[in-house]
Amino acid sequence: MPEENNKLKSQPTLEEIVSLSKRRGFVFQTSAIYGGLANSYDYGPLGVELLRNIKNEWWREFINKRADMVGIDSQILLHPKTWVASGHVGSFSDPLVDDVVTKKRYRADHLIEEWVERQLKKGKEEWNGFVVENLSLEEMAKFISDNQILSPDGNKITEPKSFNLLFETEIGTIAGEKTIIYLRGETAQGIFTNFSQVLDSTRVQLPFGIGQIGKSFRNEITTGQFIFRTLELEQAEIEYFFNPNNQDWHELMETWKQQMMSFAVNTLGIKTENLRWRRHSDSERSFYSKDTYDLDYNFSFGWKELWGVAYRTDYDLKQHMEFSGQSLEYRDPFSGEVFVPHVMEPALGIGRALLMVLTDAYYKDEEKNRIVLKLKPSLAPYKAAIFPLVKNKPEIVSQAQELFNLLGQKFSCTWDARGNIGKRYLTQDEIGTPFCITVDYQTLEDKTVTIRDRDTTEQTRMPIEKLESYIESMIK
Ligand code: GAP
Repeated sequence: MPEENNKLKSQPTLEEIVSLSKRRGFVFQTSAIYGGLANSYDYGPLGVELLRNIKNEWWREFINKRADMVGIDSQILLHPKTWVASGHVGSFSDPLVDDVVTKKRYRADHLIEEWVERQLKKGKEEWNGFVVENLSLEEMAKFISDNQILSPDGNKITEPKSFNLLFETEIGTIAGEKTIIYLRGETAQGIFTNFSQVLDSTRVQLPFGIGQIGKSFRNEITTGQFIFRTLELEQAEIEYFFNPNNQDWHELMETWKQQMMSFAVNTLGIKTENLRWRRHSDSERSFYSKDTYDLDYNFSFGWKELWGVAYRTDYDLKQHMEFSGQSLEYRDPFSGEVFVPHVMEPALGIGRALLMVLTDAYYKDEEKNRIVLKLKPSLAPYKAAIFPLVKNKPEIVSQAQELFNLLGQKFSCTWDARGNIGKRYLTQDEIGTPFCITVDYQTLEDKTVTIRDRDTTEQTRMPIEKLESYIESMIK
């Protein structure tokens, strides 16, 4: 394996993450009672909290805290011309091959990648540093035939063909007639099509950005990467508009790269050694981009894209001007210059961010024989767990309930009165709850409780009246 593809020894396996996710209610297989649906997952009671915390942090950092950013929430179903104008109908595709016997479909680039990994495992160092993304469709066809690459079932495969990723559906606006429309393939286009309305309805001036979080849909066929690659995905995207005549795009891209890295490390608490930048090669880069970098994370199955930043130039606005006949130009209020703004686009996948956060926080504490999710407290689904020491002593239970009601007004809390305290601690450690608070006999006498720290497992006694400010100071 190329060195950069080696996962750190401390990373958990994907099986461990999948198992914890299911066991504790972070992520479930979708439609499990019907046998599931490929590349589709549901978020359980804890997953939805974690997901929401990640999205809230993103929104706070990139929209609320900044004077140069506004948010929108556009439709999943946009006018079908949007996707013709954006180029997605023509060019948003993956190279697919079919197994000639089973007729199962595979991504040609993924089969090639797996073949190269097998060569490296056999010690064939000449494949070190090979990047499949550099190959065109024709080059992939030649590579497959030269190296006699077979399907995972050991059968011959067809030549790679481009397969469009957009999901099509229909609306019946006129009796007997149906119009094809698409589930959006990226949230970005809802931003471009709203550009002039945002401009006209707010007081923004260049440079400024429009952000949105929402579902997108892609007809992905590669399975087995859990929530990393899904049919229905959630994106947090920003289109940052600027004047290329007075702002250097290289510098702007560098600034965005720093902001993205800072969000991953400082806000989401990800270890720096598990993040790296990778520049797209010319053949890999999307049709709309002049330069693209991926912020890759060291997932259990290798370094993979978490977040991309692309310089989309004025491509999208110009395309929409041409197809809609509407002007999407900007008039500089000081110089009077009229032009089509250029765009820098940082695009994050929220599901991938969640998978990264789970992977990075997963810690096997061999010494104490426990699994701990060392989530940043601000991301933890529950900030505190409240336990009555025993459940057959009504005074203790009602004192604990009172505490739950008190703290619950401030933080998301959970309640557990089952089993022994040790087991309750282990459960909370696995779901990343930073604090466990136990109401015991002494509480009835002096209104103090024990508070246990998830990471150190240390317990201290604290007056109830101090809990709120203590937890607040620790979860920031
Ligand atoms: N508007 C630009 C755009 O959509 P992208 O690299 O195709 O760029 C942006 O997607 C982000 O969306 C990716 O970095 C990734 O995190 C996430 N993403 C893309 N396809 C995905 C999929 N099938 N499943 C989950 N996340 C996906």
